[in-house]
Amino acid sequence: MKNKFFTTILFLVSSTAVMAQETGPVAQKASETLPKLMTDPLNFIIAFSFLVMIGAILVLMRVIRILTDELAPKKIVAPEPGQVTEAAVKKPSFWSKLGQSFNDAVPVEKEADVLLDHNYDGIKELDNNLPPWWKYGFYLTIIFAVIYMVDYHVVGAGNVQLDEYNAQLAEAELQKAERLKLVANNVDESTVTYLTEETAIANGNKIYVDKCLVCHGKAGEGIVGPNLTDEYWIHGGAAGDIFKTIKYGVPSKGMLAWQGQLTPVQIQEVTSFIHTLKGTKPANAKAPQGDLYTEVSTTAAPTDSVSTSVTDSTATAVN
Ligand code: HEC
Repeated sequence: MKNKFFTTILFLVSSTAVMAQETGPVAQKASETLPKLMTDPLNFIIAFSFLVMIGAILVLMRVIRILTDELAPKKIVAPEPGQVTEAAVKKPSFWSKLGQSFNDAVPVEKEADVLLDHNYDGIKELDNNLPPWWKYGFYLTIIFAVIYMVDYHVVGAGNVQLDEYNAQLAEAELQKAERLKLVANNVDESTVTYLTEETAIANGNKIYVDKCLVCHGKAGEGIVGPNLTDEYWIHGGAAGDIFKTIKYGVPSKGMLAWQGQLTPVQIQEVTSFIHTLKGTKPANAKAPQGDLYTEVSTTAAPTDSVSTSVTDSTATAVN
């Protein structure tokens, strides 16, 4: 019996030791994490479950003990006159006393004392005390409820469900934004579409003023670089073509490659801004250069417009 008990304890201790090894680096920072350990309700739940588990193990061990005793074949030896039987001498064991103090049940032999008068078709009722384990458990829940009430609703130290929900929502919102950013930054010349949101156009406008205006003019009319407002394009007028020209540049002709300085999204924004300049006919516009590009579709199918672009051959020839 004792052996079994110690094996169980040893098993529990060794398994926690394994867990401690896995979280080695965390354990080193114990001083930092301790306050968190004390406040995280999850840890209390884990500790409580742990205790319940130990309790359950003890109860099960007790049950096994009783059953094995019950099932073992008994040698019945008629006692000699005057001899005290072993059973009479045997004192109640520690475990049976413990079980008794948990249950406080009247032993079967004395049940007649607590039998009530009712007889419901042969079903009788015993007037046992409430089992102490149950009664004190109930008191504990009351104490817990009071502490919980004060902690969460009076002092407000803990997060009530609504707060937790909102915190999770906020975090999800952040993650979503990050993911969208990542997806947006994946844009390239084969997937680019013209953005239409005001902020995107405004960003594109700002980039244009900062970096492109010197060569392409205030209104895109063209100075050193070509006119960006007309329908003629040297390197193709589809969204994908314009994106590509800006990204890789035409270094031999004085148009820089901007991929090192602008993110894909920024290139998309400035591409979209240039698209808004189309047909604005600014003053001092530079004469058209390149081939006429008639837009097939604006935002819907960018890959289509690339393939049907009339300047495809020119673009590939230059690159
Ligand atoms: C140093 C001057 C200079 C700057 C700065 C410059 N470009 Fe250019 N860009 C040119 C020149 C020159 C060409 C013509 C290249 C050629 O003839 O092949 C050109 C061509 C282009 C074209 C292709 C036009 C066509 O007809 O196919 C686009 C689009 C363009 N630039 C966009 C931009 C954007 C957007 C910026 C700012 C991020 C920018 N450029 C900054 C000089 C410049």
